[in-house]
Amino acid sequence: MIDFNNFPFKKAIVTGGAGFIGSHIVEELVTNGVETISIDNYFAGKHENLEFLKKYPHFHEVECDVLDFEGLEKQFQGVDIVFHEAASKKTICINNPRLDLEINAKGTFNLLELAVKHKVKKFVHASTGSVYGEAEFMPQSESHPLNPTSYYGVSKLAGEKYVRAFHHLYGLNVAMLRYFHVYGPRQESSDVGGVVSIFARHILEGKPIYIYGDGTQQRSFTFVKDVVKANLLAAISEHTNGNVYNCASGIKVTIGELYNYVCDILGKPNHPVEYKDWMPGDIKVFDIDNSKIRKELGIDFVTDFVSGLKQTVNWTKDFYESKGSF
Ligand SMILES: NC(=O)c1ccc[n+]([C@@H]2O[C@H](COP(=O)([O-])OP(=O)(O)OC[C@H]3O[C@@H](n4cnc5c(N)ncnc54)[C@H](O)[C@@H]3O)[C@@H](O)[C@H]2O)c1
Repeated sequence: MIDFNNFPFKKAIVTGGAGFIGSHIVEELVTNGVETISIDNYFAGKHENLEFLKKYPHFHEVECDVLDFEGLEKQFQGVDIVFHEAASKKTICINNPRLDLEINAKGTFNLLELAVKHKVKKFVHASTGSVYGEAEFMPQSESHPLNPTSYYGVSKLAGEKYVRAFHHLYGLNVAMLRYFHVYGPRQESSDVGGVVSIFARHILEGKPIYIYGDGTQQRSFTFVKDVVKANLLAAISEHTNGNVYNCASGIKVTIGELYNYVCDILGKPNHPVEYKDWMPGDIKVFDIDNSKIRKELGIDFVTDFVSGLKQTVNWTKDFYESKGSF
């Protein structure tokens, strides 16, 4: 557990704070008394992800783009930690690779420059397993070659490299976490969302589930609350400075297995499924070495897969039932 009585940071910025992972980080900070500013341009983020936090006077919700340097700077007064979650996700990268480059590289650069200027004590950066590209060996450790195969992987790698450069050039205290298939409540369930919520939505809407390929592709799922814990441990632990960690639970599940789990949780075994062509560039196997983060941060990824899956699917179901549609 994190001891918030001795938490060394009084004021935090969370970029992408209205998004899936960012909103969980904001929630943990705010409900434990840390003054927190969520910064989001609401491209994918949602006000309702933060609505329940508005009663806390030390929570501030700001609409701002990470490309708006002056707008960002207005928020940096007295900030001592930044959790940088805002990003262009994979779908933007396919439709608008230039914007993807801007947000993931230049947006990160803007925040780093402001972090140095305003003497921020810690910068925790959200990266992705997509920086590795096709696995050359498994399990993939942090020293695996970095050969991303998507625009997203390249732009996120550029972000990581800027984080490293600011660490080396200015001594900025940084930690980088590479996430893999994070799942949990508030995950987007539209076609640009996460696979767990998309499967749940299709079942709830009575539509067939689409599996691209044969369902044997293996993913490495991590529950969002475990990712939040990793962020906080990375923030408070001194030896994370300048380091990158695979932030993955180690749970390996195929898409075919996931389909069966989600069907079972929603009481719809054998819900119709349609198999489609493999997605171009789809990575077939994720087998991630998480020994570094376990050893250095002492994190134990406590959420078992079925329990996390039930929380995610039930949240999606409640969301659907409260709105009547997605
Ligand atoms: N969800 C995963 O499985 C996963 C896996 C690997 C890495 N990541 C990384 O984790 C981070 C959070 O991802 P998420 O899953 O919560 O996605 P998300 O889309 O829910 O959150 C990203 C947030 O960033 C905001 N944003 C996008 N462009 C912005 C801009 N120009 N200015 C300000 N805000 C902007 C969006 O509106 C959104 O709220 C990202 O950096 C992503 O690359 C996520």
